[in-house]
Amino acid sequence: MTHKRENWSSNFGFIMAAASSAIGLGNLWKFPYMTGMNGGAIFLIIYLVFIILLGIPILLSEMAIGRNTQLNPLGAYKKINKKWSFVGAIGILCSFIILSYYSVIGGWVIKYIVSFISGSKIKDSFTYFENFVSQPLEPILWHLLFMIITVSIVTFGISKGIERISKIFLPALLFLILIVAIKSLSLPNSNEGLKFFIVPNFKGINSFNDFLNICLHAMGQVFFSLSLGMGALITYGSYLSKDTNLKKSAIIIPLLDTLFAILAGLAILPAVFAFGYKPQSGPGLIFQVLPAVFNSMNFGIIFGFMFFLVVFFAAITSSISLLEVVASFCIDTFKWSRRKSTFLPAFIMFLIGTFASLSFGPLKNTTLLNMNVFDIATFLSDKILMPLGGLFMCLFVGYVWGIKNISNEITNNGKLSFRLEPVFSILIKYIAPALILIIFITTLF
Ligand code: PFF
Repeated sequence: MTHKRENWSSNFGFIMAAASSAIGLGNLWKFPYMTGMNGGAIFLIIYLVFIILLGIPILLSEMAIGRNTQLNPLGAYKKINKKWSFVGAIGILCSFIILSYYSVIGGWVIKYIVSFISGSKIKDSFTYFENFVSQPLEPILWHLLFMIITVSIVTFGISKGIERISKIFLPALLFLILIVAIKSLSLPNSNEGLKFFIVPNFKGINSFNDFLNICLHAMGQVFFSLSLGMGALITYGSYLSKDTNLKKSAIIIPLLDTLFAILAGLAILPAVFAFGYKPQSGPGLIFQVLPAVFNSMNFGIIFGFMFFLVVFFAAITSSISLLEVVASFCIDTFKWSRRKSTFLPAFIMFLIGTFASLSFGPLKNTTLLNMNVFDIATFLSDKILMPLGGLFMCLFVGYVWGIKNISNEITNNGKLSFRLEPVFSILIKYIAPALILIIFITTLF
């Protein structure tokens, strides 16, 4: 039986869905703490440069591959050149791993929303977080709930599930984060945090190695934040109709994503400084430092609730895109129903995520090469599979499929102009692969 391929109901719907995939925990959880740990404004500047050099051309290429082939990542590469199917497989595997642990953190977010709804301020937020994540059962139940919500949306399909939810959640998100950012910026002494975020300070960079380290984190962040290197945009692009303008989408999506990262920085960093905390605390920033900030703020419970609601909306619209990558692969390849293609993989991801969750508690010391299950999952996806997926995609587009073919796809067979084609070609053939390779190799050694 052949399935008729679904489509987005409009290009606007696609942009909303793709932007919602991009805007997620990467913007609200990772970006602020990465900025905090990597010297503030300098990280922001390098990040912006990488968005232009790597983000936009790779995003454009992924969408073009998807729309050209109308297939899932593995099927897409296979259709153009069989030998390169492995790049699609890397992407699907990567989505699989990311969703396993993404859902664990999504579960933490729901727990925090519930805590704020119950009206109690989170007192002593540092121990609160440690106690919560180290329990064997409770975090797994929240992780299960997050996965169930993700599955329920994806089973409804493209236009009725993913697109509809994104069109509601994205504007809500923008509204809520704006309120929190305004509140944060209006706090007494918030200036210092603002300065940290937007005025470069070179004191923290003492060697070339420090600089390289910041570049490394910024590149990883660009991939993660724009959902690149794992076929999410190939999948979303595969539901696009042939007359849409890919170039426009390749500008609007990174713009929206960057706007959210900056708003998240503005919502968090000034508040953290205003209450005398330091932003270098790493992944615990929004779960440990921020609740302490809300605790000392007037109407802190309301702002805390709003903030975690934003994070939840953002996380769920990203997790559905991760599940859709795997689901579309199962639908295309095994001809399973959409329901089966979402349930079965999600169940396996839930099980893997369970071990990731336990690695904050009972399995904390069960390690391989000094990494617990959570560390291994993030290492494999962020440091190995995502950059490799991106690197091979650039080589594939630049040297196998060829600039001429991709240009044809981008211009809708010559109907649209593509004045920046020479720039695009240089970025995809030389600059992006060279950057990824240098940074990839330095990470490993
Ligand atoms: N871009 C998402 C975020 O910033 O949280 C994470 C993500 C979603 C990565 C989908 C990859 C992906 F395919």
